[in-house]
Amino acid sequence: MKRALYPGSFDPITYGHLDVLHRAGKLFDELVVAVVANPRKEPLFTAEERKDLVEEALREADVSNVSVITYSGLLIECAKRLEVTAIVRGLRAMSDFDYEFQMALTNRDLDSHIESAFLMTAGQFSFLSSSIVKEVKSLGGDVSKFVPPNVDRALGRKLNIS
Ligand code: PNS
Repeated sequence: MKRALYPGSFDPITYGHLDVLHRAGKLFDELVVAVVANPRKEPLFTAEERKDLVEEALREADVSNVSVITYSGLLIECAKRLEVTAIVRGLRAMSDFDYEFQMALTNRDLDSHIESAFLMTAGQFSFLSSSIVKEVKSLGGDVSKFVPPNVDRALGRKLNIS
């Protein structure tokens, strides 16, 4: 059985993330979405809130065999603990490449048995990021095309926007 880990900040989850999840679901028997507890950037949502938002979004989407966890510390240690075959990451534009390349090769150095697998998001999401979504919502813009309804509502509550 092939299990993959899909890690990220998910602050918050977007339709771009869900698109990658659907694609990964076709390649692996089981997916574990791993929400990092301490992302590089100060998050808007707590780790538990981000995890709950992913779980709610998954209930709405037609994705099976997916579980959601939070993790802290090294990603590769989490991947080893869960005995995954691969770490899945979404790629949007060339701008993602440098960081992803660095991370994949570092992770390979730390454990050569775990592969990194990169999946292209659908073109319509290639510009989308959680940061852009937060900025648009905080300035009163409509983000309903970018995030599931539960995330839109949570952003409204968090940013005090109706
Ligand atoms: O959604 P993001 O912020 O691009 O995800 C980045 C993430 C969380 C996957 C990455 O920063 C990570 O794995 N952090 C955990 C600490 C770690 O293992 N760092 C070394 C990676 S080579």
